[in-house]
Parts: sequence; structure tokens; C-alpha cells
Amino acid sequence: MSDAPLTLLADQAAYAEAVQLALDASAAYYSNGESPLDDDAYDRLLRGIQAYESEHPDEVLPTSPTGKVAGGAAVGDVRHIAPMLSLDNVFGAQELIDWAAGLERRLGRPVTQWSVEPKLDGLAIAARYRAGRLVQLVTRGDGAEGEDVSHAIGTIVGLPDRLADPVTVELRGEVMMTTSQFEDACAKRQAHDGTTFANPRSAAAGTLRTRERPYVCELTYFAYGALPMPGDTSELAVRLREQPHSEIMAWVAGQGAQTTAATPVAGIVASEVERIQARIEEIAAARAGLPFGIDGIVVKADLAADQVQAGTSSKAPRWAVAYKLPATEKITKLLDVVWDTGRTGVIAPTAVLEAVELDGSIVKAATLHNVADIGRRGLMLGDSVVVYKAGDVIPRVEAPVVHLRTGEERPIPIPEVCPNCGGEIDRSQERWRCVLGRSCKAIASIQYAVGRDQLDIEGLAENRVKQMLDAGLIEDFADLFFLTREQLLGLDRMGEISTDKLLAALELAKTRPLSRVFCALGVRGTGRSMSRRIARHFGSMAAIRAADAEAIQAVEGIGPEKAPVVVAELTELAVLIDKLVAAGVSMEEPGFVPAEVAAVAAVAEGEAVVSVVLPLTGMSVVVTGAMSGPLETLSRNEMNELIERAGGKASSSVSAKTSLLVAGEKAGSKRAKAESLGVRIATPEEFAALVADML
Ligand code: IVH
Repeated sequence: MSDAPLTLLADQAAYAEAVQLALDASAAYYSNGESPLDDDAYDRLLRGIQAYESEHPDEVLPTSPTGKVAGGAAVGDVRHIAPMLSLDNVFGAQELIDWAAGLERRLGRPVTQWSVEPKLDGLAIAARYRAGRLVQLVTRGDGAEGEDVSHAIGTIVGLPDRLADPVTVELRGEVMMTTSQFEDACAKRQAHDGTTFANPRSAAAGTLRTRERPYVCELTYFAYGALPMPGDTSELAVRLREQPHSEIMAWVAGQGAQTTAATPVAGIVASEVERIQARIEEIAAARAGLPFGIDGIVVKADLAADQVQAGTSSKAPRWAVAYKLPATEKITKLLDVVWDTGRTGVIAPTAVLEAVELDGSIVKAATLHNVADIGRRGLMLGDSVVVYKAGDVIPRVEAPVVHLRTGEERPIPIPEVCPNCGGEIDRSQERWRCVLGRSCKAIASIQYAVGRDQLDIEGLAENRVKQMLDAGLIEDFADLFFLTREQLLGLDRMGEISTDKLLAALELAKTRPLSRVFCALGVRGTGRSMSRRIARHFGSMAAIRAADAEAIQAVEGIGPEKAPVVVAELTELAVLIDKLVAAGVSMEEPGFVPAEVAAVAAVAEGEAVVSVVLPLTGMSVVVTGAMSGPLETLSRNEMNELIERAGGKASSSVSAKTSLLVAGEKAGSKRAKAESLGVRIATPEEFAALVADML
């Protein structure tokens, strides 16, 4: 699953150099969470070192990081009650099968019970409880001794000050930052000294190790183990030594500490290899939607007897292994920044990157938001940058790796004029815009408006739109509805037949539902599905225009940031909307019943309020592959419209929350994912029968 399994080391000099690089990298990683190598590159380097050492056992350097916890880097001064080990890695299904077979050979019997858990991407912490009270926190350190970080007690969600019972126990687990904690920490640091953290892991490492920070950043804990104190012979201690891992974790959760049971990727127990593999796929599929980072899946022999007999190497237990997932974050070079004006006039930068493989695809470009954001991140051309991508997310440049700077980096050029028309820039907002706004890229915004998923007007190719703009016949797409037959016939290459066709298409376009008309406006921050939600919520353009930011926020998916933008955009678009109204374009959503009206009517009838149950009410539906039968001619957007008319929620990716996948011919990975998650799958014909009334 990793791109290249190992770094090839040709000779002893290359080997010695690799050992030094790995030592430096792990020293940096464990001191401040900032390594010059990303995880993937470190794994490859270590595998190269291992391969070289097994071929040249007499040349192994005493400083080699292989066989050492934390690559031999970390130190501390609190002795651990039992070594805090790391985990060996496997990459891919075959390596996992081979590893399990090896363990079973060693035991001389099959492992009947496995535990499968997410591998949380944070820092290992031992949390010592005495008589139920949290008394000390210790980092992993070199595995034998760690650093006391008890000052963090009280700032870690999931690690309570008191357990349910007055027990003496050491919980082991991972301290990390959730996405929202990370954003909060970055905002606090930004406000304090203008810098941010590179990623959640280094933010957690930095936060945990800093004793005195002028601001408090919250962390999260997930336990993955519990140990009795040495020599403790209490009933609990005996249970912790003899019970299966899965039962111990259930006990830990019962004591009030957080375990993965509180997440969508809870640990499970499995006896068949197929089930382990399926769970790995489920966790991998859920990864992009998790509110925290995972970098793999840990497979453990669940029974204490198996663990004891398998034992440990100096570095890792033999009864557990980490199945690594492809990296979602890598370091690459920022080669260039290009600026472009979008269809709404917003001027946005795109980072041009040295190509890297990330989470299964090659990334060469990433969004950079705006000028202020570039400044906040302190990016420079030629910088090594951390790039993040997970699942369907658009790749993002997180931060420069400042300690890799060579001095050759140059400032990022910031445009003086609009990159499209050369005109002035409106810098009054963080997102710069061309002063011409939508008119700057009139062709693009008109073509968007007449596109298949909006007004669906045929016969308006880019050339034709340009011709009309150049002739001064139109300025925006509303003007199209006022074109006369004579004006159209006066255009080059425009005959009677095409003219009549276009006029008919324009008449038809006036009857489109509000959701399509609203979408055609191209309001910033709203696409097709958001436009449908807005149209269904308000029912008419007049109601949308009358809404203030607070009222707009009542639409699902519109938060306090987006709402004022929508309101401002509608003000900006007022002239255009007025023209559409004057042209007789429909401004109503068919079948709209305001929620209050339905409720009032029901109450007036003396009935309990019952909502109409549509065939897909409460269901989340995903469509994939080619549609056939009665649905053959429907575009993806039309399928989504149909799903929503039938009361369902249309979504583009399969997750554990998906209720139904409509899979046509040539359905690919979405079908596989749905199968592994046990999501119901329907053919286009079966689905058509289900929603027959809506067709
Ligand atoms: S079990 C004896 N379970 O991964 C070691 N570790 O790369 C037993 N980690 O040091 C560790 N999630 O900090 C275990 N569900 C999980 C884990 C997990 C993350 C960390 C842990 C360990 C590191 C090894």
C-alpha cells in the first residue's frame, strides 16, 4: 500500500548516512513533532535500513534505529512500570496474512480471537490512576523511561480526573487533537504570535510538552490498554492480566475513560481473517470522515494467553501489528503559485506542487484560499510544504516546513491587477475580487447559468455567448430572455432554424424550478444541492430575498460564515434577479408547502401533526455507475433531484450512514465499499420502481 516499500541502500556509506538521517528525523519527531521526513518516507527509510542489515549483519551500526522504541531518539526520567513498546508495520493484505501465519506458527495453534482497532495518530501516554484519581501522565520516551507531562491533567478530553471506581491502574493510550481542537489551537496560536501548527499531531506534541503557554489548548485521549501495578495481586490486577483485551477495553470505557468504542471505528473482535480484512476496509473507508487522524489499523491477538506466549521483541509485541494506511499528508515542494479569476470574480491562488502520491492519487496542485491565508502560513516559493489530502477532500497546503529552508526561497508574487482582465482589484475583503465582479468572467458565469444542471439551455456554446457579449446584446444571462428574433438572426452563422430552436429553449428555461434558477445565479458558496435546499426551504425567490442572515442559517448546511455571504451576494445580484422576474422566469419551487402552513392546517383539522411519508424519507442515497431503464436519460444532478423529491438525501460518497446505493453498470469502488459496509444496493430499475410516483 505504500508507494515504494523501501529506500534502496547501495553500500555501507549509504547505509551509514541513512542511519544518521533516521536518527535525526526521529529525534526531531519526538522532540517537537517536526520531522524533516514525512511518515511514509521514514517508513521507507527504516525498511531500507532493515533490508541492508539483514544482508550485512556484520555491518550493523550500534546507533541503528532498528529494534529500538522511538528510533532510539526519545528520553525521559520517569521509569515505566512495563516497557512502552512500538508496533511492527505491515503494508497490504498479504503481509498481514503472512504476519498472522507467523504468529500462529510461533504459538503452535491458531489464534481464535483477534481484536481490530484504529491506529490513532497521536502520542502514546501512560496515565496513572491511584485509588481512582489521575495522578501522573508520562510520555513514551525511549520506552523504558518517559517524560512527566502531568501539567496537562485537566486539559485532555476523555481522560477523567477520577474513574468510576477507586482503582489503581495505568491506562495506556493516545493523546491527540481532533480536527476542531486543532483548528482552535491554530487560531489561538495565530492570535498570539502569528504562526500556526503544521498538523494535529505536532500540535498535540507541542501542546503536551509546553509547560507554560499563555493559552490553553484542549487535547483528546483514547485508551488502548490498561495495566496493573507490578506486584498488585488485587482481583482487578488479576483480571487485567488474564482477561481478553476486548473485555479490558470495555471495563476501561465503563470507568469513564474514552476508548475507540466512542467513535464510528470502534474496536471489534473477529475470528476469521476475512472479517479482519473487512473491518480494515470499513475503517479505511470511514477515515476521511473521522473527526481525528488515524494512520492505520492495529490487529491484536485478543486473548491474554496468546499475548503472554507470543511475548515481545525489544521493540514491539509479537502479538500485535499495525496495518498502515496510505499517507494523507506528505512533504513536497511548492514550485509556483498561479492566480486566476473565477466565475464570480474572486481571485484565487493555486499552489503548483512537485507531484506526490497522497491517499491513492497523484497531487500536483492544491488550493491556497487567499492572500491573507498565504501570509498567515508564511509560505514562500521553493518551500518544502506539508500537503494534506484525505478521501474526496481537495488537497490543501498546510504549512511550510520552516527548518528545511535553504535560504533560496522567494516571496510569492501577489497580483497587482486582475489576472483575467487586467483591471483593478477590490481588496476590501479577505477574498480579493476583480472590481468588475461577475462581469469580469461573464462568459464563464453565463455558461454556468445555461448549463445542463441549471437552466439547461441548448445552443449556447462558448463562441456564441462571446459573440453576443461582443455585439453588446447581453451583459448577463438574464439578458438572454429579452433577445429578439431579429437580433439573433443578425448574428453571424445564426440561421432561422437555430434561432427558433434557441428561442424555444429560452421559453422552456423560464419554466425551470426555483432550485435550478437559484443555482444559475452562481451565488458564492452554493452549488446544486445547496440551491435545492434553499429553494425547498423558502419556496419562492421573494422569500429568499426577504430573508436575513439569521433566516438563511435555518437552511441545513449554512453556517454563520456562509449566511452573510449569501445575503450580500443576493444584494449584488438584485438587478439580475429583477430582470429575470421581468422576463417571466419562474421564481417558485413546485410542490412547496411551508412547514408552518402544513402544521397549522393539521392542527386546525384537530389532527396530530404527521408529516407526509415519501418513499425515501430519512434515507441517505448514493448513485454510481451508468443509469438504465426508466432512469437512463437522467444526469447525476437529475438523479439527485429525484432522490430529494422522494424525501431522501442525495450524497456523493458511501459511508456507514448510507442507506442505499443505486448502482448501475460499471459501478466501481463505491459498490465495493457499499458491499464491505453492508449497505443495501439497488439496480437502477429497482430504484425506479421504488420512486415510480415521483418520476
Ligand atoms: S497497542 C505494546 N493500539 O501506535 C504496544 N497502539 O506505532 C501496544 N497506537 O506506541 C500498542 N493506536 O502509541 C495500540 N489502537 C492502538 C493504537 C496504538 C495508536 C500507537 C501507540 C503505539 C504506536 C506504535
